[in-house]
Amino acid sequence: MSQPVVVVTRKLPGAVEEAVKREFDARLNREDRPLSTGELQAALRSADALLPTVTDKLTADVLSAEPLRTKMIANFGVGFNNIDTEAAKARGIAVSNTPDVLTDATADLAFTLMLMIARRAGEGERHVRSSHWTGWRPTHMLGRMVAGKTLGLIGMGRIARAVAQRAHHGFGMRVLYTDPYPPPPDVAAALGAEQRATIEEVLAQSDFVSLHCPATPETHHLMSSVRLAKMKPSAYLINTARGDVVDEAALVEALKKGWIAGAGLDVYEREPQIASALVAMENVVLLPHLGSATEETRVAMGLRALENLRLFFSGAPLRDRVA
Ligand code: 8YV
Repeated sequence: MSQPVVVVTRKLPGAVEEAVKREFDARLNREDRPLSTGELQAALRSADALLPTVTDKLTADVLSAEPLRTKMIANFGVGFNNIDTEAAKARGIAVSNTPDVLTDATADLAFTLMLMIARRAGEGERHVRSSHWTGWRPTHMLGRMVAGKTLGLIGMGRIARAVAQRAHHGFGMRVLYTDPYPPPPDVAAALGAEQRATIEEVLAQSDFVSLHCPATPETHHLMSSVRLAKMKPSAYLINTARGDVVDEAALVEALKKGWIAGAGLDVYEREPQIASALVAMENVVLLPHLGSATEETRVAMGLRALENLRLFFSGAPLRDRVA
C-alpha cells in the first residue's frame, strides 16, 4: 500500500525530516520559504496530511480548498492560533499540536528575557560592541534585581508553571498568578504560587508580568492600554506567548509615557514586523520568536508531530488532538 502524502511546510531539523521520510511520502520544503495561500491550498488538495508551523495561516478561507484531500493537520508548535480549528472540524480535518516538549525551553527563554531586561544585557552588549565602553565605574548601567522580586503570571498552564518553578525555587521570587482554569491547589502550593482573582490584582502587585495564555478571541489585546496602566511604573512586561495578546501600539505608548519600566518580547502582533518605536527603545529586549528554539526541543517537537501523524494513519486516537 502506498504511504500517505505529508506536506512539511518548512525545513525541519534533519533527524525529523529523515524520520518523516521513512514513514510517509514526505514533500519537504527544501528552500524553507513560507508557503503562499495558493501553495497551502494546493497542499490541501494534494496531500493526506500537513505538518505546518506558526507561519502558515490556515484560515477558514484557505481550508475551503476543493477538492479537499487532507484529513489531518499535525501542527509543529503548542500554540495553534495559526489554524482555524472550527473550520478544520467542519471540514472533517483532525488537528494536533506539540505540548510538553517545549515547556522548559520556553520557560528558560521567559527567564532570559527577565534577566536581560532587568540587568540591561541587550543595552550593555550594544554598548560594548559599539566601542563606547570606557571602563568600569560604580554607577555604570545599573539595572534592577530579579531575585527576591514579585513575578505575576497571566495564565498558569504548563509553561507558566515551569517559569514559577524557576522563579520561586531558583530566584526566591514571590509568585502570583491568575487563570480561569487554575491548577489544583497542591500543584500551585509546590510552586509557592499565590492565586489572585483578577488580572488587575496581579498587574498591580508584580515587578515582572509574564504572559502565558493562548491566543484566542478572548485574549486578543488582553494587555490593553488600560491594563498596562495598572502595572507598576517600575515593572517589566515579558511576552513569550503570542503577539496579539498585547496591544503593541498601547505598549509603545506605555513605554513612552513611563507607565512601565520596560519589556522583554519574543513574539509580536505582526511578525516579522515590529513597531519601529520598539526597535528604537533601549528599555526593550527584542528576540525573534525563539521560545522553543533549541536543537533538542525542535527535534522533540517534530517527533511529537510525527507521532500524531502515525497514530492518525493507524486509526488510533491522537495523543495531542486539539480539533
Ligand atoms: C514555535 C511556538 O517555534 O509552539 C509554539 O506555540 O510559538 C513556538 O514554539 C512555533 O510555533 C513553530 O510553529
